[in-house]
Amino acid sequence: MNIQPLFQPVEHDMRAVDALIRKRLNSNVVLINTLGEYIISSGGKRIRPGLVVLAARAAGYDGDAHHLLAVIIEFIHTATLLHDDVVDESTLRRGRETANHVWGNDASVLTGDFLYTRAFQMMVELDSFEVMTVLADATNRIAEGEVMQLMHTHDPNLTEANYLEVVDRKTASLFAAGCRLGAVLAGRSESECEAMSEFGRQLGLAFQVVDDALDYGHGDDTYGKNLGDDLAEGKTTLPLICALARSPQAEAAPLRQAIRDGDLGALDSIKKAIESTDAMTYTFGRADEAAQTAIDCLDVFEPSHFKDALISLARFSVQRRS
Ligand code: IPE
Ligand code: IPE
Ligand code: MG
Ligand code: MG
Repeated sequence: MNIQPLFQPVEHDMRAVDALIRKRLNSNVVLINTLGEYIISSGGKRIRPGLVVLAARAAGYDGDAHHLLAVIIEFIHTATLLHDDVVDESTLRRGRETANHVWGNDASVLTGDFLYTRAFQMMVELDSFEVMTVLADATNRIAEGEVMQLMHTHDPNLTEANYLEVVDRKTASLFAAGCRLGAVLAGRSESECEAMSEFGRQLGLAFQVVDDALDYGHGDDTYGKNLGDDLAEGKTTLPLICALARSPQAEAAPLRQAIRDGDLGALDSIKKAIESTDAMTYTFGRADEAAQTAIDCLDVFEPSHFKDALISLARFSVQRRS
């Protein structure tokens, strides 16, 4: 499933966002430009800026400050990816070698810092205490999520609730912030802004749960990341949590050891356990539930092409294979 057609109602906005991304990436420091250009031009789905723009439009906004907001969200996202690939020791992203693999960890972390701080500079331009509060809280929660995840690595006893708590912070909070601020720009009531925020949160949850399924090989050939990364990093994600819970104790024991060791050699037996316990059906079912909850949150907004596209993006987050 291709994401591009879903942005059709905001095609014009998305072109403006892309131009602004390039303009604001700019720095006098050569390495920042090189590395920043590398990660930005390698693509990415742009789902977060797309959601910001669509949420603003669906909420009735007709100015252009949502372009800046969309770029801020994409810069924060890109900064987290640069940092995340260092922490996860990942070598492939967006179908290319990761920046840390090409330029090393130091350059990646520091360019991630540049993107974070550039996003802060742009936030100030929006001159809104509410925008700054929402984004400061979201970035803080992302950092909490990544640290929480670190504390949970190589833990075969991680529960679904623990897992979802990490996902809520590391991924869903940025989706929630972007969507909320779309409604804030449009001047909607607090309860409507909260509804848009919850839409983003539930969509983000579905998005990350599916990402964790794709890591076990459910993606297509445009997935662009290494398979089995999560196991190698000792991340106990939902397909594995479900498979462990449903496996007889004797069969679960070696899988549990593989999580402790981050043993990629066990990938095949883990995949078999996921299959025999039907854990993927459960995982996608969980994502589907979240996407439906997201869609229900939009009831308070008037019908429009923009709202239809938001609904399609919630479905996309479950159906995507890359
Ligand atoms: C990757 O996000 C990180 C997750 C939250 C799973 P995306 O899948 O949106 O990454 P790009 O921007 O499209 O590469
Ligand atoms: C996503 O986590 C990173 C953040 C949301 C900060 P993952 O580690 O699961 O993402 P990928 O698989 O590397 O894209
Ligand atoms: Mg990662
Ligand atoms: Mg992943």
